[in-house]
Amino acid sequence: MPTILAIETSCDETGAAVCREGKILSNVIATQKIHEQYGGVVPELASRAHMQNIVPVADAALKKSTLEIQNMDAIAFTQSPGLIGALLVGTQFAKSLSLALDKPLIAVHHMQAHVLANLIGSPKPSFPFLCLTVSGGHTQIVQCDSPTELKILGETMDDAAGEAFDKSAKLLGLPYPGGPLIDKYAASGNPETFHFPEPQIPGLDFSFSGLKTSILYFLQDKTKEDPGFINKHLNDICASIQHRIIGILLQKLKRAAIKTGIKDICIAGGVSANSGLRKAFREMGTKYKWNTFIPAFEYCTDNAAMIAITGYYKYLSGEFSGLSVSASARAKW
Ligand code: KG4
Ligand code: ZN
Repeated sequence: MPTILAIETSCDETGAAVCREGKILSNVIATQKIHEQYGGVVPELASRAHMQNIVPVADAALKKSTLEIQNMDAIAFTQSPGLIGALLVGTQFAKSLSLALDKPLIAVHHMQAHVLANLIGSPKPSFPFLCLTVSGGHTQIVQCDSPTELKILGETMDDAAGEAFDKSAKLLGLPYPGGPLIDKYAASGNPETFHFPEPQIPGLDFSFSGLKTSILYFLQDKTKEDPGFINKHLNDICASIQHRIIGILLQKLKRAAIKTGIKDICIAGGVSANSGLRKAFREMGTKYKWNTFIPAFEYCTDNAAMIAITGYYKYLSGEFSGLSVSASARAKW
């Protein structure tokens, strides 16, 4: 009955979770509010906040699980990708625990973990499944043949989908992270009001930088004519931007589904918390007879439960790391 303590510190959330036999017993997250005033994550401040949070967060996760640290069979941690100073805090903490407790260490790739968040709870997708992983730093379509065999079928060539949301929000004068705010305003807007271009990228890759530029020029032109334009039309602008981003994502996912013939299809990552994407994905699933899966909200944005579930599957397949393992800002799994 493998029991895993998992640590996540790749960006601006300090997370710890306990999982036993593939079931999440606790999942604790300390969100770092300090970055809001800077309009984005400040790496040095993130590292310092992780240093302050890591022990109380891990302690809270253990208490919530009602297990003792001695009951853990392995320590899993996010090794890559992310902010190097932030990753180092979690990596060193996990290595120290592993050494002190004499328990094996499991290095986890954050993007693999986002995909495997779909294996928390039930029903679970059957293998092979496809996953559209959309986060603040990545946009990928992944084919998952088993929990430890994943291949990237397509990915973004520039901005990630989360960045497209956050940068658009910034242009609208909204605070960081803007993705959830666009979601909120879009709910009361008409997505057909404004039309933004769709990039013509062949295959299964994505590009969002052209969209960002077209939104910038659009807003510059409109506010020149009417300085109050954004305030007057915020809901419709957000709905139109969100509609375009979702359209780009789902168009490629549909293409991947046709190309592979795979019917079990998931979404994951922070942007999969977007209500418009969740709805449009479900509708597309019904139309094309897919079995669709979306992680529960708390497992979409960064969390340690997804690190724990990945740690569990890596434990089962004997994928352990030595104490010489080091954090890495960008590593392919
Ligand atoms: O997966 P995640 O928590 O962190 C990374 O690994 O990057 O994703 C964060 C991203 C941010 O860009 C944030 O704006 C976006 O997910 N996000 C959303 C929503 N919730 C989070 N974007 C659109 N709508 C949301 N509801
Ligand atoms: Zn993430």
